[in-house]
Amino acid sequence: MKKLGIGQPIVGTEIQHINLDAYPRLSSVGYFSPLRYPGGKGFLTGYLASAIEALPSENGASYVEPYCGGAGAALALLGQGKVDRVYLNDRDVRVYSIWRAMLQENQRFLEVLKATPVTLKTWRESREVLEDAGDSYSFEVGFAAYFINRTSRSGIIFGSGPIGGYKQQGNWKIDARYYKETMERRIQWLGSQSRKIALSNEDGLPFLRRCTKQLDGASTLYFVDPPYVQAGSRLYLNAMNDKLHRDLATFLKSDACKHWVLTYDNDPLIRELYDGRKMSYLSVNYSLRKTRKENELLVR
Ligand SMILES: C[S@@+](CC[C@H](N)C(=O)[O-])C[C@H]1O[C@@H](n2cnc3c(N)ncnc32)[C@H](O)[C@@H]1O
Repeated sequence: MKKLGIGQPIVGTEIQHINLDAYPRLSSVGYFSPLRYPGGKGFLTGYLASAIEALPSENGASYVEPYCGGAGAALALLGQGKVDRVYLNDRDVRVYSIWRAMLQENQRFLEVLKATPVTLKTWRESREVLEDAGDSYSFEVGFAAYFINRTSRSGIIFGSGPIGGYKQQGNWKIDARYYKETMERRIQWLGSQSRKIALSNEDGLPFLRRCTKQLDGASTLYFVDPPYVQAGSRLYLNAMNDKLHRDLATFLKSDACKHWVLTYDNDPLIRELYDGRKMSYLSVNYSLRKTRKENELLVR
């Protein structure tokens, strides 16, 4: 921590905004994630691509995302040929089941998508499926979670109501974000990439440890976007407490991962844990509903 004379330690006073204009977002036409995701990082693709371009690439590059959520950046990087292999992990079995159902049961997923009416009744049934979700993969949980993601107010899988409300009286109706043909195209493309995508449902830190043992460090970029310290549990599963945020910091700072980029909410705990590392502010749209801009931190 830096100290300015006497008084409170001042942390983060020299943090600058990162200029993302210098890293234009990659075109992800055709490679967009099929999910809507609060905190999605698709806008960082240009920045991540430049970090990947700096890696030695004789045998191609790998990209690892231990808290993958909607995986917007991962899919754009794969679609644009910036990486050859992507390792996605999310601890939330509902999120994991969406990806696994799309990747491993692609045709079935597309057929169910075609046959499912976009109604409040399906929304309620999907919520029930999620309430009874166990702790291992199920196609039904995957499809229900995806339906809820596309038809709920904030794209949040748990805890937000249907678009248009329970009476469907507003201007927006439940299908306002259910662009069936676009969703179908994205899911089809995802299916075609399944051999290049490894998927798992572990806790982020053991997953990271395993990857560092199994992958070539020099040609792998780790993009680490954990649940926010402050808003985490409002938005999605937050299986992290202060201790786990600290453990993650200890691991990343040990340089077991050679190349990593981390994003977090701008919280004093994070500024303290990563003090001494290169840290910048990121302006991001913090919620899917409001276009309010808030600062996040990007750490390398
Ligand atoms: C900030 S979001 C990631 C957003 C993602 N980068 C994107 O672009 O869509 C954090 C994700 O971490 C997952 N998660 C929460 N606790 C976890 C844990 N302990 N290990 C792994 N994943 C976790 C949540 O389910 C959520 O999808």
